[in-house]
Amino acid sequence: MQKTYFIETYGCQMNVADSELVESILKREGYCATQNMHAADAIFINTCAIREHAEEKVHSRLGTFHKVKKERPEVIVGVLGCMAQNLKDELLENKPYIDIILGPDSYRSLSDVFSRKTKYNGNVVDTKLSRFEVYDDLFPSRKEGVNAWISIMRGCDKFCTFCIVPFTRGRERSRSVESIRQEASEAVANGFVEVTLLGQNVNSYRHEKRKFHHLLEEVASVSGLKRIRYISPHPQDVTDELLSVMAAYPVICNSIHLPLQAGSNRILKRMNRTYSKEHFIALADKIRAYLPGVGISTDIIVGFPGEQEADFRETLNVMDSVKFDSAFTFKYSPRPYTKAEQYSDQIPEVVKQERLQLVIDVQRKNTLLQNRKMIGKVEMILVEKDSKRAADQWAGRTDSNKWVIFDKCDAKIKDLVPVRIMDAKGISLHGELLETEEVLL
Ligand code: 5AD
Ligand code: SF4
Repeated sequence: MQKTYFIETYGCQMNVADSELVESILKREGYCATQNMHAADAIFINTCAIREHAEEKVHSRLGTFHKVKKERPEVIVGVLGCMAQNLKDELLENKPYIDIILGPDSYRSLSDVFSRKTKYNGNVVDTKLSRFEVYDDLFPSRKEGVNAWISIMRGCDKFCTFCIVPFTRGRERSRSVESIRQEASEAVANGFVEVTLLGQNVNSYRHEKRKFHHLLEEVASVSGLKRIRYISPHPQDVTDELLSVMAAYPVICNSIHLPLQAGSNRILKRMNRTYSKEHFIALADKIRAYLPGVGISTDIIVGFPGEQEADFRETLNVMDSVKFDSAFTFKYSPRPYTKAEQYSDQIPEVVKQERLQLVIDVQRKNTLLQNRKMIGKVEMILVEKDSKRAADQWAGRTDSNKWVIFDKCDAKIKDLVPVRIMDAKGISLHGELLETEEVLL
C-alpha cells in the first residue's frame, strides 16, 4: 500500500509555498497526501516564529501530534520551517517524539532524511541556512485553484530590530528570471489564472543584473495570466521603475502592501526601518499619483520598546493621513536573537492591548471610508470562491485587493467579471454582476 503524509501549515504565504515544495518532494519519495493525520505514515507541521502567539499555536498542535505518536509509535513526526530553525534545541530536549527537524533551507534533504531515519532510527536535524538555496529546479505540488504562489526570493538582509526572519530564514537570495517565468507558464498550463510572487522582501529581488521591475515585466508577458500580485515589499525598495511597470501592465494588480510599522521617526529609527514618516507619506502619495485607484495595505506594530504615548499618536496620525485600505495590526512581541528584545524599555501588555484596540478602531473607520468611495463604480472581479454567507453568492477581489460579494448568476470560478459596487459593509463590498453588454454601453 502507498505511504501517506499529512501536512499542516502555519504563518505566512511563504510557508504555504514551502509546504507545496515539501509535498512535491514527498510525492517523489512515493508518498501521497491524506487529510487524516490518524492514518498517515508521516505527519508534518510547517511552523512560524514571527510572534510568540504563532509559536504557542504550534506547541499546542504538537501536543496533538504527540498523542498520535503514542497511539502509533511508527508514525514519523516532522517539524519544518522557522520554529524548527529557531527552537531546535528546545524541541529536541522537550519533545523527543519529534523525528525530523528541518529548517527552511533544508527541505531538499528530506529525501535522504527518510533513508537516514530508517538507518539510524534517531532524530534527524538539519537547520543549516544556505546562502544559495532557492529550490530553483523544484516545482511545487499545488492543489487546484485560482492563485499559484511563486516564491521568487528567500531570506532578508534588512534586519529590522523587531524581526526574527533574518535569523530563521537567512540571507537574501533570488531565483533566476527564467525559472520564475517558466513556473508561471506551467501554473497557467495547470489551470491557474493568477500568480502571487512571494518573498520576505520581494522587491529587493535581484538576479544577476535584473531587478524586481524587470522580473514583473517578464511575468506580465506570460500569456493566459489574468492577474499578478506580489507580497511583501519594503518601502525602501519601491522604485519609480517599479511603479511605472505596475502602471504600464494592466495584468499587474493595482495594489501594494506598504508596511508602515510605526509613525514616529524616533521609533522607526529604533526599528531600523530606513525611512522617515515624511518619506513614507510622500511615497504613498507618489504611489497614488502613478496608480490611480490603487489599494494600499499596511502592517502596524504597537507597543514597540520605548514607544511613548506621543509616538503612538504619530502612528495614528500617519494612519489618518495615508488612509490605508486595510491593515494587519500587531502587538510587539519580543523575539529571540533580535536587537529590540534586549531593549530595557519594554511596554506593559495592558498598554499594548489598549493601543492595539485604538489602531483597529482607526483602521476600521478608514477601511469603511475607502470602501464607500467604491460605491457606484464598476470593477472587474476575479471570481475566487463561494461566499461564506450564502450558497448562491460568489466572493472575488477587485484588482485593488478588496473582497466583493455578489449573486452568482452564471459567473464561474476563475472568470473575470464586471460587478457594480452597491454597498460597503464591514471589510467587504457588495455588488451586482453586470452583463458584458451593460459595461460596453
Ligand atoms: N512583533 C510583532 N509583530 C511583528 N512583525 C514582525 N516581527 C514582529 C514582532 N516581533 C510583523 C511586522 C511584519 C509582519 C509580517 O509581522 O509588522 O511586517
Ligand atoms: Fe522582518 Fe524587516 Fe526583513 Fe520584513 S524587512 S522580513 S520585517 S527584517
